[in-house]
Amino acid sequence: MKITITDKNGNTNDYEFRNKQKLTSLMIQNNLDEGFGICGGFLDCGTCHVVVESGGSTEKQADEQDTIDAFVFESYDNSRLGCQIKLDESWDGAKVKVI
Ligand code: FES
Repeated sequence: MKITITDKNGNTNDYEFRNKQKLTSLMIQNNLDEGFGICGGFLDCGTCHVVVESGGSTEKQADEQDTIDAFVFESYDNSRLGCQIKLDESWDGAKVKVI
C-alpha cells in the first residue's frame, strides 16, 4: 500500500506503508520527521499536523481535536495529527500534506 506525502519543503513522493503503521513511523522511516512529532505521539505538541488532501480519514477523536485546537495555529476541517493516524487499506492511495 502507498500514500502520497508532500513534505514541509513541498516535495511530493509516494511511500509504501505496512498495515497498521503509524504515519509518524513512516515519516521517521523516510527521514521526513525533522521538527515533526516532537512529543512522541502524546498529543502534547501539534508538530505532527498534516492535512488530508484525499483518501484516508479526517475523523478525529476528541483529544486529537483538542490538541489541534490548542497547538495548531492554522487548522482545517481536514487537519489530522500524524501521530494519531494508523495507516490501513483505507489510506492506500491517500494524499497528505505536512503543514
Ligand atoms: Fe505531538 Fe502528535 S507527536 S501531538
